[in-house]
Amino acid sequence: MVEVSLSSLEDRDVKAHFHSQTNPKNLAENGPIAIARGDGPYVVDNHGNRFIDAMAGLWCASLGFSNARLAQAASRQYETMGFYHTFFNRTHGPVVELAEKLLDLTEMRDGKVYFATSGSEANETMVKLSWLYHAERGKPSKRKVIARQKSFHGSTIAASSMCGLPHIHRGFGLPLSGFIHTSAPYSYRGKLEGENESEFVARLCQELENLILREGPDTIAAFIAEPIQAGGGIIPPPQGYFEGIQRILLKYDVLALADEIVCGFGRTGSWFGKDTVGYKPDMVALSKGLSAGHFPISAVVVTDEVYRAAYRYNENGGNFSHGFTNSGHPVGAAVALEAIKIYREMDVVQHVRQIGARLRGHLDEIARGSSIIGDVRGEGLMLAVELVEDKAKKTPFAPSMTVGSRLDKIAYANGLVIRCMGDTIGFSPALNIDSSQADEIAEKVGKSIADLERQLL
Ligand SMILES: Cc1ncc(COP(=O)(O)O)c(C=O)c1O
Repeated sequence: MVEVSLSSLEDRDVKAHFHSQTNPKNLAENGPIAIARGDGPYVVDNHGNRFIDAMAGLWCASLGFSNARLAQAASRQYETMGFYHTFFNRTHGPVVELAEKLLDLTEMRDGKVYFATSGSEANETMVKLSWLYHAERGKPSKRKVIARQKSFHGSTIAASSMCGLPHIHRGFGLPLSGFIHTSAPYSYRGKLEGENESEFVARLCQELENLILREGPDTIAAFIAEPIQAGGGIIPPPQGYFEGIQRILLKYDVLALADEIVCGFGRTGSWFGKDTVGYKPDMVALSKGLSAGHFPISAVVVTDEVYRAAYRYNENGGNFSHGFTNSGHPVGAAVALEAIKIYREMDVVQHVRQIGARLRGHLDEIARGSSIIGDVRGEGLMLAVELVEDKAKKTPFAPSMTVGSRLDKIAYANGLVIRCMGDTIGFSPALNIDSSQADEIAEKVGKSIADLERQLL
């Protein structure tokens, strides 16, 4: 292990803290980046350096890293009741009000809302509910879940199994059997030579149908999709994709699950990604933007039909035997209610459309002047650029060049936090950034790309 000089907090971190999604050797050699405080969409590190975080942390701090109203909402609820649970018929005001709001916002008004703590738990819950749903309808063999390559659904065992990213499976012996994958709707790289968008969609739909037929329709419980794939490289579906997919799901009695953990609450320029892409799911998983990242809370909105299955299954006694200690935590619910109130007041949908278009315009302009940006894509404030060696041929850089992570480091030196997903760079800033902050992000992206291009010469 290389000796480096570390400040006391950083030194203690390396000694005591087992980080998520971090290379242990890199951490041991280079130490952590300690962030001391938030200031709206900015963060300040332990050395006083200030960064605009164009990823809202992990796609979640939708109202910035410090927000007095969210803090006050939490504080008020802590003073009234800092914990109660929702097992054994218990409930409380904030959780009821939040459930009503979520049914209304998702336009699934006949449904019900189940609460959990993390995105992974929400996705796991959707899998278990899919199994229960089919079992109750006399189809217990319908157990398999189809997810898509390049998807990210979380880190618990079923959620990891649904991920379509090999590095999430590596070392853990995953995916579990029964979790299978179909292609991502990745237009930039997935289309065949001469194939147009509708032919591409038709091919993806055929692939899904073939997979269902090969596995046996009586074995398939559910299909899960992020409306716009996030961690796999910000991949918006081509026109008509979800319509086509949904026809196949209906034909084979397969439940449609939406992982809205990143896309929900305005991120894509609609309240939910499902509305942006035309997906009509049976269950919707929400987290991140739900509390603007200020409290760990997640939710699953289910249709009445799914809820009825749980009802009938347990009609003769016995509980719906699933639940988390913090399901429907009152402080989380209070923070989420305040976040939703703020989204409404700021007209999050219009604001994201407007600021998103502005940032997108800047990125398009940077791409036009750059020799290494092959694609600009995304919706609302969920945008990406893909770096390539040759724009005309879409030739990727050799992975050993680690171009994406080099840009990540350069951007950091320029006061900008971005997210590299291979050589795709993601932007998912706080939704309440203003025009000048969008311009600042773009200006720093432009400078960082130019710095990288000079390095690559
Ligand atoms: C689309 C998506 N689903 C699920 C998750 C998992 O959420 P959590 O980390 O809260 O378990 C994430 C996390 O980034 C995500 O991006």
